[in-house]
Amino acid sequence: MKKILLFCGVVLVAIDAIVANPCANPPKIHPKACCDFPMPLPEALVASCVGQYGAQTKRVLESLLSGGPPRGACVAECLANATGLITGTDVNVEMLVGGFKMAAEGKPEWDAVCEKGVTTCASMVKSLAPAFDEAAKLPPLDPADPICSAGPGFMLFCTIKTLFMDCPAKYYKASPECDALKQYAETCPLSF
Ligand SMILES: *[C@@H]1O[C@H](CO)[C@@H](O)[C@H](O)[C@H]1NC(C)=O
Repeated sequence: MKKILLFCGVVLVAIDAIVANPCANPPKIHPKACCDFPMPLPEALVASCVGQYGAQTKRVLESLLSGGPPRGACVAECLANATGLITGTDVNVEMLVGGFKMAAEGKPEWDAVCEKGVTTCASMVKSLAPAFDEAAKLPPLDPADPICSAGPGFMLFCTIKTLFMDCPAKYYKASPECDALKQYAETCPLSF
């Protein structure tokens, strides 16, 4: 009986959390599995940055999903450092658009989508600079974590979200999971 009550209690708390914050549980499917968007970042570089900073960035994402304040993701800063595409909140728009267009070679449907996405996100990053400066003053989630700038992570997230939302029909794979992800991205400020 006690066990059943405890179980019911846990379920109620879980339901409460979901109702209170429907955005806390993003669909598990990766956006790239739903929309084949171009990505100019070399896989080996991504793997290297995830290997070095994956744990820190996972903590940051979990904190953001549970409603925590903005924080820098070191995986994204590592990518930004290695490519020279972003310094703090300064995005090299021309170079980044060029990279996306190169990655989308032979798929002209993407050109305008990438240009609009990168330009819009870069100006959002600029306007969020004061909030990102505040974020850099927060203590790390784990005492051993480095503190990173929030600009690169926001830029990466914003760009992927925009490309996914504006995915040309030809590259969108409709399925219940993907449609749920799209719905989530439309209603939750912090999507995937
Ligand atoms: C990125 O470069 C800056 C400036 O050189 C450095 O302080 C920072 O530690 C680097 N970040 C990562 C994640 O490698």
